[in-house]
Amino acid sequence: MSLAIEFVGIRKAFGPVRVLHGVSFTLAPGKIYGLLGENGAGKSTLMKILSGYEQASEGEVRIDGTACHFRSSRDAEQAGVVLIHQEFNLAEHLTIAQNIFLGHEYKRGWLLDERAMEKASALRLADVGLRISPTTLVRRLIVAEKQLVEIAKALSRQARLLIMDEPTATLTPAETERLFALIGKLKADGVTIIYISHKLDEVKAITDEVVVMRDGRFVTRAATADLTRQQMANLMVGRDMSDMFPPKLTPAREAPVAMAIDGLSVPGWIDELSFNVRAGEILGFAGLVGAGRTEAFEAIMGLRPRSAGALTLGGKKVQPRNPRDAMRHGLTYMPEDRKGKGLHINLGLSDNLTLMTLERYATPLLNQRAEQEALEQAVTIFGLKVGDLNARARMLSGGNQQKLVLAKFLHPDPRVIVLDEPTRGVDVGAKRDIYFLIQRLAAEGRAVIVISSELIELIGLCHRVLVLRAGRLQAELSAEKLNEEELITYATGTR
Ligand SMILES: Nc1ncnc2c1ncn2[C@@H]1O[C@H](COP(=O)(O)OP(=O)(O)OP(=O)(O)O)[C@@H](O)[C@H]1O
Ligand SMILES: [Mg+2]
Repeated sequence: MSLAIEFVGIRKAFGPVRVLHGVSFTLAPGKIYGLLGENGAGKSTLMKILSGYEQASEGEVRIDGTACHFRSSRDAEQAGVVLIHQEFNLAEHLTIAQNIFLGHEYKRGWLLDERAMEKASALRLADVGLRISPTTLVRRLIVAEKQLVEIAKALSRQARLLIMDEPTATLTPAETERLFALIGKLKADGVTIIYISHKLDEVKAITDEVVVMRDGRFVTRAATADLTRQQMANLMVGRDMSDMFPPKLTPAREAPVAMAIDGLSVPGWIDELSFNVRAGEILGFAGLVGAGRTEAFEAIMGLRPRSAGALTLGGKKVQPRNPRDAMRHGLTYMPEDRKGKGLHINLGLSDNLTLMTLERYATPLLNQRAEQEALEQAVTIFGLKVGDLNARARMLSGGNQQKLVLAKFLHPDPRVIVLDEPTRGVDVGAKRDIYFLIQRLAAEGRAVIVISSELIELIGLCHRVLVLRAGRLQAELSAEKLNEEELITYATGTR
């Protein structure tokens, strides 16, 4: 029942931009493969070709020795090839059950059998550990829940080859464990699996073999057991990556408090949260998904109602009504949900970049020249890989979209910067760039707050970390006391 896959000289161009330059390799049936590569290497594009979402410009895909020309994802699914998208592909206005069965609806006579679909969906949701009614509208879900629905949807499609593009970027450790157990079961059932992730410990833990791509080309392959994580990272970027984090500079002891929060309460999420951050300091926020970190900052930014709490910025009491208002006081918040709140994926790159500072470019007409220059600068500073400066944001690879979001929220030159999951879906090379950038921002005297689910990142980067659980502050750990165990025990409440 397993499928063997052969890529033969696959080339792909989007207009003038060439993305894949003749990729050839084979995958034996029934194994778990890790597909590695930097942001923009072409991983998602190759997988979209395999699963019928894109057509190759040249070359062919052979499945069990037969050339296949899938014209649509439905064609591919008929052959047993199913892709779980990196960027969610769900219909926001439909329910979970309607999404899971979209295009594969159960019918009773001429009518849709909603009940049967809801029942079957409930089973799939249980498989992925999502305890939510299948009749819930997708737009009501948080990012991690959408990811689990994507996985549940793929599981309902009888895959013989299952491709997972960054499935765990938004999941908690417990959800990830459950996914790995599912992957183990699928493998035992003979499903071939291609697993794309920038989390190298996951790749190390669950794959049999890794295939590495760089700049639209196949680079090498190896048995996972023969590689350390460090070696994987080096293969991806083609250089040594042992110094991921910049040295921690101690912020000046007498540095002024840049932002103080006093007694913040957000109905249903946060109870009496108080903290402050000094100029030059990098402050981390740890906690499990649902701990209320994002909600706290959304309330601070005026994006959701708060019932109590005072905000002081640079010594002045303020009450931002919305992010633009907060920006006027020197505070910016980069949201975690890049496709939803971070970017306008149908707008151009420079439009996205300057959206929050339009006033600057609007005198008297939009100054396109200046916008273009700002974009060119951002490309250099943030190491954005873009084929065409006039592209739309949707055409960037996942990691490059993330860099564009960063550039957008830093463009107004804020004094206090809140970054919510700044390296989600970003490769090791780009992560390192972002860490060094964060350190530079702090060294320039800004206060930086990093919300992250990657403990290593908080430990490597922060001067101080606050742990939140169920809307309450559990602990404050200084740099010397930071380690994974400590953070996990507070975040899960096992202490
Ligand atoms: N529809 C499109 N139009 C133009 N260029 C595109 C389009 N889709 C992808 N690209 C470009 O193709 C290149 C490869 O993108 P792809 O999404 O395959 O990378 P990736 O390896 O999946 O990266 P990441 O790890 O960031 O997800 C990128 O430079 C991207 O900008
Ligand atoms: Mg991708």
